[in-house]
Amino acid sequence: MHLTRRNRILRVSPAIREMVAETVLKPSDFIAPMFIVEGQQVKEEISSMPGYYRMSIDLAIEEVQQLWSLGIRSVLLFIKCTDDRKDNTGAEALNPNGLMQRSIRAIKAACPAMVVMTDVALDPFSTFGHDGIVQGAEIVNDATVEVLAQMSVSHAQAGADFVAPSDMMDGRIAAIRNALEMAGFHNTGIMAYSAKYASCFYGPFRDALDSAPGFGDKKTYQMDFANRTEAIKEVMMDIEEGADIVMVKPAMAYLDIIREVKNNVQVPVSAYHVSGEYAMIKAAAKMGWLNEEKAIMESLTSIKRAGATLIATYFAKEAATMLQR
Ligand code: PBG
Repeated sequence: MHLTRRNRILRVSPAIREMVAETVLKPSDFIAPMFIVEGQQVKEEISSMPGYYRMSIDLAIEEVQQLWSLGIRSVLLFIKCTDDRKDNTGAEALNPNGLMQRSIRAIKAACPAMVVMTDVALDPFSTFGHDGIVQGAEIVNDATVEVLAQMSVSHAQAGADFVAPSDMMDGRIAAIRNALEMAGFHNTGIMAYSAKYASCFYGPFRDALDSAPGFGDKKTYQMDFANRTEAIKEVMMDIEEGADIVMVKPAMAYLDIIREVKNNVQVPVSAYHVSGEYAMIKAAAKMGWLNEEKAIMESLTSIKRAGATLIATYFAKEAATMLQR
């Protein structure tokens, strides 16, 4: 044969493949989620997330320093609220000495350069396990938004660099931006969970925080996974309301959404590679059915290739470690 074009030329050797690679992961692409609990020297493995832990603040600080030295530049904090502090108003979420506020202060004191992002939603604090205030069978929007705005200011006061509302209430980004402005936090950013789907892939996360909804599901606020156009609507509204970064969640089953969002916006896009996506790879690797390291790198590269500038992933540390060698 006399071919004018031989595509395999660009795949001949590892060096050529490296030269022409279109997508290259780096540690600062990753946002490392952290689950924080009360106590000291506590490190509990989450049963449905093997290799991932809930940690007390003292150990979380050490973890953050390690993540920084691996090149990771951001952590996303979640706390496990004790049952006695849960209610239907989100009072504990506003406690200036709550676990979240103490965690933020401790981490910023130990590693000031690390970008600290905080989850803003009521589910860890809710007796009902819902992201908002419950009246009857309804998760009420406007009253919830008021608490989320105050909660965001409280996180900013403790030193958070970005608040990350994950609740999917309407109008919360504008309310949060406004509350931050009123309180003088002009440099506190908002990473909005803009296209967050009602997904079964959050199961292990709810084990981690003991935050599964006590009744019903989250389908009246999180999106229907059948929808794509609606994701663009959510994203565009969050940007108009002041979101600095928009997020698509989950990631692997939603690569089409990540790309469509990327093609429509001028702000950084993040994707949340969620707990169930972590658990699937871990489980298959444990069974010997998948090569874990290869599965991690292929998954994260696909998410970046789809259009995510930032990836929140429980594999942040493992991937950053692999990238260092
Ligand atoms: C809560 C929240 C959830 C996740 C992040 N923030 C769970 C939910 O909405 O039920 C999921 C993260 C994961 O599964 O890794 N607002």
